[in-house]
Amino acid sequence: RVRCRAWRAAPSGLPREGLTVLYSRIAGTGSYLPDRVLSNADLERIVDTTDAWIQERTGIRQRHVAADGQTTADLAEMAALRAMEAAGVTAADIDMLVVGTTTPDLIFPSTACLVQARLGANGCAAFDVNAACSGFIYALSMADKFVRSGQSKCALVIGAETLTRMIDWTDRGTCVLFGDGAGAVVLKPSEETGILSTHLHADGGYKELLFNPVGVSAGFIDEPGHGVKVKMIGNELFKVAVRALARTAEEALAANELPQEALDWLVPHQANLRIITATARHLGLPMERVIVTVDRHGNTSSGSVPLALDEAVRDGRIQRGQLLLMEAFGGGITWGSALLRY
Ligand code: UT7
Repeated sequence: RVRCRAWRAAPSGLPREGLTVLYSRIAGTGSYLPDRVLSNADLERIVDTTDAWIQERTGIRQRHVAADGQTTADLAEMAALRAMEAAGVTAADIDMLVVGTTTPDLIFPSTACLVQARLGANGCAAFDVNAACSGFIYALSMADKFVRSGQSKCALVIGAETLTRMIDWTDRGTCVLFGDGAGAVVLKPSEETGILSTHLHADGGYKELLFNPVGVSAGFIDEPGHGVKVKMIGNELFKVAVRALARTAEEALAANELPQEALDWLVPHQANLRIITATARHLGLPMERVIVTVDRHGNTSSGSVPLALDEAVRDGRIQRGQLLLMEAFGGGITWGSALLRY
């Protein structure tokens, strides 16, 4: 039971003297990947590419692709059920549901509302956060504030995407990168240290580096040269991503007065193994302390961080009490991090 609430932890993340700090803490994780696997060899038959190029430039060997008719809400629901089971909570316990996604089933209702109805968690707050690949970190940050302030006692946070639905399968520069999937966490209030801080950023000035030009005003025409397709200037984005992720990692550690050596795990957004390696090098972390799924999942956008987290929790690498840095980067551009004790 929480006896007394402080609104801010000391910078170190330790309670200020005489006060009990209320944290939000991950009570359980879950994830889901669609069954269908698309290998680099499969892509060699679709576009002018090679397995060797994809592996060397991205680290990706395969990705999962949603079945016909399988939607973002379908993936989100499966990940949510697994996280709820791991946390030992039922739909009746959930009082807030946030979905990070840039591939919602519909313009509205939000994917969060669709998932809410399927789970039977009707009545609680439910909304989507669109921050492209940073969607899960943004959603987690929102939920953290609600839990810390006492407004939520059990928040379900999901990152879910079917990004392959808006890929130009004739563009070898993008179609080899993305996959579909979802991950979820249940956040609950705790006196034990949980999320220490989150740090969110965006710079809309870089819009042209990664975007999808369709929308309510732009229209939804799907034809060559237009349409529901991701556009990316990959090599420019790469440089911006490496710089932003290094900065946000430093920012998170500095805000909590923690040295790089205190980190047990980096759970990064899985866009490109070279970006992940650069961030780990910047932090002085050996790759054995970095959770990597990009080789098997590709870039699942908002799904990638919670998918990686769930994998490492379930296989026993990530243990209770360890210090984790989660970070992400995506179209907008957006980027951010969450530093937490699992
Ligand atoms: O999650 C959101 C954040 N996303 C990112 O941060 C993505 C960041 N960018 C990247 O990961 C990398 O820039 C890519 C993987 C997208 C591209 O790798 P790159 O090393 O930056 O390649 P590039 O775009 O500079 O292209 C180099 C060459 C070009 O050929 P030329 O002009 O040198 O003849 C491309 O046409 O590689 C060619 N190329 C390919 N070749 C074989 C591009 N895509 C492919 C391909 N297969 N799939």
